[in-house]
Amino acid sequence: MKRTEVLLVAGAGGVGKTTLAAAAAVVSADAGVSTLVITVDPARRLGDALGIGGLGNRPVDVADRAQLWAAMLDVTASWEAIVTRHAEPEVARRLVANPYFRAIADRFPAAQAYAAGEQMADYVDSGAWDRVIVDTPPSVGGIDFVLAPGAMSELIGGRLLTWLTGAGIPGRRALYRITAKPMLRLADTVLGGPLLEDIAEFLLDLRTLYDGLSSRASEVERLLRNARTVLVTTASPTPLREVRRFLDELPAAALEPAAVIFNRALPASWGGATPPTDVDGIDRAAWTALHDNLVRWGAEARHEADTRRQFAAAYRVPVATVPLLTSPPTDLDGLAGLVDAAPDLARALLG
Ligand SMILES: Nc1ncnc2c1ncn2[C@@H]1O[C@H](COP(=O)(O)OP(=O)(O)O)[C@@H](O)[C@H]1O
Ligand SMILES: [Mg+2]
Repeated sequence: MKRTEVLLVAGAGGVGKTTLAAAAAVVSADAGVSTLVITVDPARRLGDALGIGGLGNRPVDVADRAQLWAAMLDVTASWEAIVTRHAEPEVARRLVANPYFRAIADRFPAAQAYAAGEQMADYVDSGAWDRVIVDTPPSVGGIDFVLAPGAMSELIGGRLLTWLTGAGIPGRRALYRITAKPMLRLADTVLGGPLLEDIAEFLLDLRTLYDGLSSRASEVERLLRNARTVLVTTASPTPLREVRRFLDELPAAALEPAAVIFNRALPASWGGATPPTDVDGIDRAAWTALHDNLVRWGAEARHEADTRRQFAAAYRVPVATVPLLTSPPTDLDGLAGLVDAAPDLARALLG
């Protein structure tokens, strides 16, 4: 069977992951490589351009572009599929309907990341594409995405749940012993209804997922370890901290990123621009505003360039820079154009 390449696009929220994942997909498909991009919450116009406005998990063949497919991560649908796969039918039905389960699936960042991971693994296993590109959920920065399979196994099989539900399954009696404690009964009375009984049921059901989920999680982990990973950031401190955390904290050699992409960079030429000292025929106040603007953005562009230089010196990882476009790319040609506008980008994304 042919090997499917996986490209993982990670980074903090709002830095341009979805845009760059889609751009990588367009360029990959244009090179004749059959490519699926799994996007997370694309801006509406970008979603429309890919033909995935509101469609959810199922990959669609992108119109007007040979070899390009797109899907949108639908965390709720993915978790329903995960549960259906790993639990007995009756337990699966109960879990899917349980509000606690929904809360975990919808709000727990590792659960979102894990859903994306299993989704990715399904598409890779199908062997239908040469390359699968994975955009990562905004709730998890970089490192948390790759740690999510372990975190999910740990959540479901870990000490907390074992302690709560007893060592064996079913350990219902042990749990009910806990919930029979007067304080907990009081909580039930105060909160109204059979809350703890619901929780007990839920935790027990959740534990039955453990065997299936943990073995699938190791497969997802293996795929992530073998994936090409690129980290997207801007030169701002917050997203850059996420990249540093990824590079500093990841277990050695577990997952070396192929590149760090500095997106939305101010043009380097701004850094050296000297404002004219006087301009004839222009209103004094307007000129002062323009002048100050140029000075301020020039300083910012130099600061960004310094930040990139310092980063590149501190970490041995290829760095690519993508310019801030005046209008963000929202269609397929615009995405291809973004790659053309950044000389190192195609190599950073696709090798
Ligand atoms: N190089 C760029 N130039 C201008 N706008 C950009 C660029 N890259 C991304 N954007 C815009 O920035 C916003 C955030 O990008 P997005 O890809 O949704 O980020 P993320 O997926 O990391 O949250 C979007 O409006 C997008 O169009
Ligand atoms: Mg996004």
